[in-house]
Amino acid sequence: MPARRPAAPDGRVTPADRGRARRRALLRWWDANRRDLPWRRGRDPYRVWVSEVMLQQTRIEVVIPAYRHFVRALPTLAHLARAPEDTVLSLWSGLGYYSRARALHRAARLLREQRRGFPRRLDEALALPGVGAYTAAAVLSIAFGEPHAAVDGNIARVLSRLFRLAPADSRGEPHRARAEEILARDRPGDWNQALMELGQTVCTPARPSCPECPLARWCEAHRRGQVALYPAPRARRASERAALRLTVIRDRRGRVLLERGAFAHLRHMWLPLLAGGRGDAPPHFRHAILHRQFEVEVEARTESAAAIRRLLGANGGAERRLFTPDEIRAIGRSSLLTKALAHAETQHS
Ligand code: ADE
Repeated sequence: MPARRPAAPDGRVTPADRGRARRRALLRWWDANRRDLPWRRGRDPYRVWVSEVMLQQTRIEVVIPAYRHFVRALPTLAHLARAPEDTVLSLWSGLGYYSRARALHRAARLLREQRRGFPRRLDEALALPGVGAYTAAAVLSIAFGEPHAAVDGNIARVLSRLFRLAPADSRGEPHRARAEEILARDRPGDWNQALMELGQTVCTPARPSCPECPLARWCEAHRRGQVALYPAPRARRASERAALRLTVIRDRRGRVLLERGAFAHLRHMWLPLLAGGRGDAPPHFRHAILHRQFEVEVEARTESAAAIRRLLGANGGAERRLFTPDEIRAIGRSSLLTKALAHAETQHS
């Protein structure tokens, strides 16, 4: 809505008025429409941090149950710092990007060693493993009300339409500059989340609902009928394809031989044995890791105790171990392991 108290003496609407009206419109929309998500029930910096790390690369529907499970098992920073890495990775099962979990764990241990919680200062937050500009700004604004603008993918899309911005460079300029400029400094956590929520529910990538958008009247792309042109597609890194053969080996008691360290793209996760060379069978499934598409072939075999002993010895530098089905359920399972075991199941039975 137009500002009711124009600051300019001649009664014109100034940029400051526009900024105020825009902030009011979005925050009013947020107050009426904010979704009740489990990490929005409080402002505990630890919980906000965990949620922001999970949400960065993973869809919200996947994060909700994983987040609940994680904070039930590890309700405080101290619990996380004390937990063995396998526990943390297990709680991260299915979320992908496991290096996030390892960095979160390392950061928690550092903070506990220094007997402090998540820092309130930006430079100190940025010094923590795994905490980049987005995570630092999100946690500080939401948990402490510090005036930092967060820019994630959703917010970048909203900004690119609002101001008709060219594709962002790798550091997110000029989106970051605009985000700082329009930040509601009195409610930065609400503001950042309102922009995210707007991007997730209204200003969506395809077919945004502009008639419902509280920012439509300030949106340059909307005013020009150019919403579909923003954000302009970035030159995409072509996704690379690669073949991957995994061998699921069991002993006669139903234990499964897994290894860790042999597959460079998931170096810290337990997986079936990596088989050399390419098979002639069509792949059983595809699995994406970062920008690579793996076409995965799974072979299932049962081996004698003597053969298993040989395989345990000939590990080529990787760690190898036999796991009972219960033990497999307790470790950090990548989706790749889950899919490979499911395929092996169809071959074994
Ligand atoms: N994506 C990243 N952070 C979020 C948050 N706090 N709420 C909803 N979606 C998010």
